[in-house]
Amino acid sequence: MFSTDRTNEWFKSFTDNYKVSGILSPMLDLKLKHSKRVSEICSETACSMEWDEEGDRWMAYSAGLLHDVGRFPQYKTYGTFLDSKSVDHGDLGAEIIAKEFNWKGIPDNFRENIISAVKFHNKKKVPTNLKLGAYKWSCLVRDADKIDIYRMVQERIDNGTIFEMLPRHQAAEGLSSDLVEEVRRTGSVSYCNARSLQDYRLIQLTWGSDLNFPVSVAALREEKIIERIREDLRPYGINDLVDKIVNQIYSMA
Ligand SMILES: [Fe+2]
Repeated sequence: MFSTDRTNEWFKSFTDNYKVSGILSPMLDLKLKHSKRVSEICSETACSMEWDEEGDRWMAYSAGLLHDVGRFPQYKTYGTFLDSKSVDHGDLGAEIIAKEFNWKGIPDNFRENIISAVKFHNKKKVPTNLKLGAYKWSCLVRDADKIDIYRMVQERIDNGTIFEMLPRHQAAEGLSSDLVEEVRRTGSVSYCNARSLQDYRLIQLTWGSDLNFPVSVAALREEKIIERIREDLRPYGINDLVDKIVNQIYSMA
């Protein structure tokens, strides 16, 4: 009843529909690869927390793989991944899988948990009135999604391809004072306000305070990813703020 092969088959045929002359556009190909990595990270994280009841392995794998299905129609229709300029890709993905995924043999509560995890993976906060299962799986996908983006950004900074991913951010350097003020005031800030790579790095750092599981923090700590952000922001005169956020993140693990 819980077959990851069947999840893979559905995901492949869903994403194949977005190929033109047999290939995905480079931006969608990035999302495809991201989805596969998030699926792996969800599986590893769930496993390390010993979530090993019947169906848990399938849930972790499938919720991760399906979390961004909304990206495909979003990009095809609007040509952007900015939800604010198009559609909420979590809501869209949840609608799609509710209608189209192959749910044969999957118990209702599992179906509801995956749909919730897809719907809430990109929201500012997970609603606290969700059922425990839906909350728990949403939290898992949110952590895995962030971990993959942290790794990807770090890798791209290291190999010099970061501005292929963030072309808009090449025009400015340094931190925007409005953005710093907002982070000081509220602890977070919307990604669309980032003008430079440093703005983006500061926003990324604030995501760390939103991680749900100590094992997620421990992974990033071990990979020195949080440290790298701290170092990259050193020259910009907000060490007190950066150190405060880093301490907040580390206090979880
Ligand atoms: Fe997403």
